[in-house]
Amino acid sequence: MKIAVLPGDGIGTEIVAEAVKVLKTLDLKFEMESALVGGAAYDAHGHPLPESTLKLAKEADAILFGAVGDWKYDKLDRPLRPEQAILGLRKNLGLFANFRPAICYEQLVGASSLKPELVAGLDILIIRELTGDIYFGQPRGRREAPDGEFKGAPEAFDTMRYTKPEIERIAHVAFQAARKRNKKVTSVDKANVLETFQFWKDTVIEVHAQYPDVALEHMYVDNAAMQLVKNPKAFDVVFTGNMFGDILSDEASMLTGSIGMLPSASLNSKNQGLYEPSHGSAPDIAGKGIANPLATILSAAMMLRFSLNQEEAAQRIEAAVQKVLAQGLRTGDIWSEGTTKVGTAQMGDAVVKALG
Ligand code: NAI
Ligand code: MG
Repeated sequence: MKIAVLPGDGIGTEIVAEAVKVLKTLDLKFEMESALVGGAAYDAHGHPLPESTLKLAKEADAILFGAVGDWKYDKLDRPLRPEQAILGLRKNLGLFANFRPAICYEQLVGASSLKPELVAGLDILIIRELTGDIYFGQPRGRREAPDGEFKGAPEAFDTMRYTKPEIERIAHVAFQAARKRNKKVTSVDKANVLETFQFWKDTVIEVHAQYPDVALEHMYVDNAAMQLVKNPKAFDVVFTGNMFGDILSDEASMLTGSIGMLPSASLNSKNQGLYEPSHGSAPDIAGKGIANPLATILSAAMMLRFSLNQEEAAQRIEAAVQKVLAQGLRTGDIWSEGTTKVGTAQMGDAVVKALG
């Protein structure tokens, strides 16, 4: 078994170092190989996703990814920006199924920005389609407006687009995941306004015929954004497209206390996966040693579960994280009165120690 380790930029290097520490503590047989990605790869090789990094990722059984991006690259042409590396990995490896569990750990109920009774016991799963939608649709670009009131003025455009097989395969993933949970799927769309998402809804209804044991409801994305903070526990599996999923999962992260707590898994049809925290490279706190490494450590647990067939080790990590939280250790993003503030490395060390 081989794990490709791609730390990336900003806090990516700091948090991945802690997850690697945790993985090395488990006495498991796998090899880890690191490579540059994102801005770090651009600085060294002039490209955010060099051939050698892509090759390593393709050959690996699983990929542990940190984060990419920094404001200093904002002026680069889009294909050279660090964010293209993660989009390129998702597309090249066909990682269409993104799992983002949002669990509010008992110890962090007070860290959420919502009232304790709304988030205590929260355990929802966001399933986001990851290789289609407006993030990848062509054509896109800038031009002179061809018509309308502002004809001739500079304009920019993107294309929202889904093919039927793309919707079908992610719908199967969502219904199958729901079968292992509470058998309820909320499909989030904007069918009232967007043709792409009317098609999404029609297709989801068709696929649902194969899952009569799973309850299906449909919700417009604007309402879903509201319901997520009004009554998050009413959801079980939240299932949606790429852009809506991007936004809703950041929103959901705050239910759990911090985006620094939200892990993710992105799988392809061969169960090869890329595992990364749901947050970005946090340039505002990079290099300070204060980032929360738990989302990345929990992502490593998902990697053991989904790609490396090590359920027991995954559970050990999850239990160790809970133990550390129960000890009152907190990075700044989840700190509250009466708990002990620790840095990134101290948090990683505490998880290692809790693994015993
Ligand atoms: P971000 O997720 O990096 O940061 C948002 C806020 O959350 C910041 O205040 C940050 O300090 C905080 N935060 C994030 N992770 C944290 C952690 N582990 N511990 C404590 N606090 C944490 O999003 P932002 O600021 O919008 O983007 C920064 C850069 O990251 C941009 O270049 C963006 O394109 C990139 N990005 C990359 C992603 C990826 O690599 N998959 C995903 C999202 C953004
Ligand atoms: Mg995002």
